[in-house]
Amino acid sequence: MSVFAGRSPVLKGLLIVVLACVTGVCSLDYYAEKPSYLQTCRINDPEFVKCSTASIQKLMDQLSIGIPEITEVIGPFDPLKTKEIQFAQDNQGAVQLRANLTNMIATGLSKLVIKESRVSKKDYSWETKIYIPKLRLDGHYKMAGKILLIPLNGAGRMFIEIDKLNILMRTKTRLYEKGGFTFYNVTKIRIDLNPGGVKTNFENIFNGNSKEVERSTNLFFNENWRDFFEALRPLVTKTVETTLLDILQKLFNLIPANFFVEDIPTSEQLYGKKKEQ
Ligand SMILES: *[C@@H]1O[C@H](CO)[C@@H](O)[C@H](O)[C@H]1NC(C)=O
Ligand SMILES: *[C@@H]1O[C@H](CO)[C@@H](O)[C@H](O)[C@H]1NC(C)=O
Repeated sequence: MSVFAGRSPVLKGLLIVVLACVTGVCSLDYYAEKPSYLQTCRINDPEFVKCSTASIQKLMDQLSIGIPEITEVIGPFDPLKTKEIQFAQDNQGAVQLRANLTNMIATGLSKLVIKESRVSKKDYSWETKIYIPKLRLDGHYKMAGKILLIPLNGAGRMFIEIDKLNILMRTKTRLYEKGGFTFYNVTKIRIDLNPGGVKTNFENIFNGNSKEVERSTNLFFNENWRDFFEALRPLVTKTVETTLLDILQKLFNLIPANFFVEDIPTSEQLYGKKKEQ
C-alpha cells in the first residue's frame, strides 16, 4: 500500500510548489500550477459573480479537507486554533470592557457557505457574503469591566455559540508579482456580523463569588442575547477579523490570483509603472 493512498487529491494534482529564498531565508512560496479543485473565472464575463462564488466555495471546502501548506502552519481549519486576542474598549456607553481570550478554538467553519463573492474591477477589493450555520468559540477568558451594566471581574473557561451567522466581509488587496504570476496581498479585512441567535457561558465570571449569581448572570445574557451580542460585538468582530486576515494572507500568498481571475491585470497594469528614481 502506498503511503499516499487515501490522501487528499491535492497530492495527486501534481502541484509544483516553489521555494523562494531571499537573503538566505527560505520560505514556502507558491503554487506554480493550478490546483485541480480551483475554478478559474474571468472578471469580464457577465457571469463572473456566479463563477467567483463557486470558486471561493471550492477553495473553502478544500481548506476544510486540508491544503497541506496551510494546514502545516495553522493546523486544521475546523476546529481551528485562533490567536490570542487582547481587547480593550472604554467608552461612555454600556460597554467598558477589557478582555483577553486565550486557547481559543473555533468550531463550525467547515460548514461555511459562500453566498456571494464580488471582486471590484477598479481596485480588486472583494465583497464576500458568508453564512455559517453554527459557529462556536471555546476558550479561556480574563475579563474586567461591564457587560449590560453588570460589573464583571473574572477568569475561566467560556464559550460563545452563534447560530445562523451572516457575515459581510470587505477585503482590501494590493496586487503584486511573483514568478510571473500576479498575487493578492490581502491587506485589510472589515466584517459585519449578523447573528440569528447567541448562546454563551462564562465560568467564574465574578471570580469565585457565588455560583448562583454566576448562573443567573449567564442566564440573563442568554435571555438578552441581542443586547449581549451588541456588547461583545467589537470583541467577536476583532476575533473573526484577525483570524480571517491571517488565513487569507497565507492562502493568497500561496495561490496566484491568476488561478481565480484569469484576466486579472498585473500590478503594473493596475497601478501604473513605478517611477524611475
Ligand atoms: C491582558 O493581557 C495583557 C498583556 O498580557 C495585560 O496587560 C492585561 O492586563 C490583560 N487584561 C486583562 C483584563 O486581564
Ligand atoms: C503586503 O502588504 C503589507 C502592508 O500592508 C506589506 O508590509 C507587505 O510587504 C506586502 N507584501 C507583499 C508581498 O507585497
